[in-house]
Amino acid sequence: MRNILVTGGAGFIGSHLVRLLVNKYTNYNIINMDMLTYAGNLENLKDIEDKKNYTFVKCNICDVGKVNQVFEKYQIDSVIHLAAESHVDRSIVDPLLFAKSNIMGTLILLQAAKEQWNANFSNHIFYHVSTDEVYGSLGDEGFFTEQTPYDPHSPYSASKASSDHFVRAFHDTYGLPILISNCSNNYGSFQFPEKLIPLLINNIINNKSLPVYGKGENIRDWLFVNDHVRAIDLIFHKGKLGETYNIGGSNEWKNIDLVKLIIKTVDRLLGREEGTSNKLITYVTDRAGHDKRYAIDCTKLKDELGWEPSLQFDEGIEKTVIWYLNNKEWLKNVISGDYQAYYGKIYKN
Ligand code: NAD
Ligand code: TYD
Repeated sequence: MRNILVTGGAGFIGSHLVRLLVNKYTNYNIINMDMLTYAGNLENLKDIEDKKNYTFVKCNICDVGKVNQVFEKYQIDSVIHLAAESHVDRSIVDPLLFAKSNIMGTLILLQAAKEQWNANFSNHIFYHVSTDEVYGSLGDEGFFTEQTPYDPHSPYSASKASSDHFVRAFHDTYGLPILISNCSNNYGSFQFPEKLIPLLINNIINNKSLPVYGKGENIRDWLFVNDHVRAIDLIFHKGKLGETYNIGGSNEWKNIDLVKLIIKTVDRLLGREEGTSNKLITYVTDRAGHDKRYAIDCTKLKDELGWEPSLQFDEGIEKTVIWYLNNKEWLKNVISGDYQAYYGKIYKN
């Protein structure tokens, strides 16, 4: 039996990862540590909450005492760390919160792992899940590789870059067995509707305006969330300790083209005439420090570990839109904060 701590398991990517691990590895105990911020939602894990190999612990990763207790109580032997504040726009409003959760929280987990494992590091892994945004912004050409120097621009990406550096520092200084992956933009079910794709779907359903920052010319590389968690599973089990792996969809979209694709898909699935919702597109003031283009070179992951994305983008978008259309209640409840209020009563601390 292995006891694996997944942090941030009630969030978008974390919930997909927890589901995969709990169902695939019945010989692992999966301990999900999450403080249930606005972005964390146990409703995302309803289908596995009663499984014998799954435990939820409500805990802020910045709470040193409680984090240490969890390591001790569950005899944690490995960590897959996803808990973070993750929205760039929120980081512009409240950078301090991002420094606390993303930098201090990571440092507290690293320290707890180091102390709990007591320099006996065999059979232990600290896997840190990070973002391609640490590499900064690309022009029209080129791709981020694992060797690209860090050049973050938003408080979010700066906090993630800092946490990556601490993870590497614990490897280089104390020999902590670490893995890091840096992934491009994810999309899929259970994503909080303040990120671009679920925000668009929700607003099209409700005939609300679709805010496009600047001229809509920024470019992102989109990956289906299930393919990201398949990559995490692979890297956790087969990755070379101490190394970084880039994960991406090789699937670049200019924001405005993506907005039009989502409009087309949602209108069709709602039985509306093609182009009905184009009138909802609203160009708004650009995001401060808005990175122009992200694009990942994931040759290393493909060549060394044999990973490939499983879905074409049009299939992934179709599945995703259908999921949100079939789960309008989930959308309504996460936006209104109903689930948060409900789980807040159940898990007081
Ligand atoms: P999310 O915002 O949906 O979920 C984050 C989760 O972390 C939530 O459940 C929240 O409650 C929890 N959390 C936040 N602060 C916490 C704290 N102090 N203590 C305990 N729990 C806390 O984020 P996501 O999109 O699922 O991203 C997960 C990870 O993957 C993050 O580290 C993010 O940087 C990284 N990442 C995300 C993307 C993406 O496109 N979403 C891409 C690459 C990497
Ligand atoms: P987002 O989903 O916030 O992810 P990130 O900023 O981490 O890449 O945004 C994706 C892109 O869409 C980004 O270029 C900003 C843009 N965007 C809009 O144009 N309008 C919006 O309402 C949002 C949320 C994002």
